[in-house]
Amino acid sequence: MIEVVPETPYDNDYNSMLERAREELAAIGQGTYPAIATSMESFEDYDIVFVGYPVWYGHMATPMQSFLHSHADLLAGKRIALFASSGSSLISTSERDAASLVPDTTFEESLLLTSSTLDDMENRIPVWLEGLGASREDNQEDATEGLGINIIAGDQTVTATMEDNGAARDFLARLPLEVTLEDYNNGTEKIFYPDPELSLDDTPRGCTPVPGDITIYEPWGNVAIFCRDWSQSNSLIKIGHIDDNGIETFNVPDDITVRFEKQ
Ligand SMILES: Cc1cc2nc3c(=O)[nH]c(=O)nc-3n(C[C@H](O)[C@H](O)[C@H](O)COP(=O)(O)O)c2cc1C
Repeated sequence: MIEVVPETPYDNDYNSMLERAREELAAIGQGTYPAIATSMESFEDYDIVFVGYPVWYGHMATPMQSFLHSHADLLAGKRIALFASSGSSLISTSERDAASLVPDTTFEESLLLTSSTLDDMENRIPVWLEGLGASREDNQEDATEGLGINIIAGDQTVTATMEDNGAARDFLARLPLEVTLEDYNNGTEKIFYPDPELSLDDTPRGCTPVPGDITIYEPWGNVAIFCRDWSQSNSLIKIGHIDDNGIETFNVPDDITVRFEKQ
């Protein structure tokens, strides 16, 4: 999954958020798209591209419009399935936004989640996916196959699931790997420096780390495993997550030597 991240984060204050969204929509009307920090080099690995967004003033949320606008050539000829959330507005205006942003594409049936239909989503989402030939049962095995790793620290083994992106695949290709994880920022992260640095091709930027996230800090090229929550950064790149409560193993003040292995 790729999260589209705006270059300038939105304000937590709701009214200023509304105002900025209005200004951005007006600017898009004039052909200026708000800057985003997310890009993809190719969609070749995807049969269907699912595009999810909230409805803002009837339209597709502006950062997603920027993403489709800047990736229109790469998305040409793909199958796109839109899904959106709204308070009550319909999805049709944003479907028209998408169709004009990516004109040479096949749009599948869309899905809208509104506050009054949320309760029904557990039933509707599987039916929608089934209709697209993308139901979870068909794809689950393939989706995570080969992405599981073991991290062995002394006599403890925790498991983690890597992301399906270029940097994570480069990391997986280097396993098994033994490193010393250094404590960083008073127990917030455990870090090490892969040598050479991991390739960032085909890897989306931007992450709001939660405990267990395995990330790369792009400016330094280090891998950072987060033991605590940390703030959103467009320089952080998520490459995996430690399963369940496994992160507790790393929640110690010292450096730890670990061995990463494929499962
Ligand atoms: C800037 C902005 C504009 C919105 N405009 C609409 C709208 O026109 N119609 C509607 O039904 N909901 C509207 N909403 C509600 C969002 O669609 C709703 O908050 C969203 O689908 C839920 O996702 P979120 O948690 O990311 O906000 C708007 C929300 C924001 C922040």
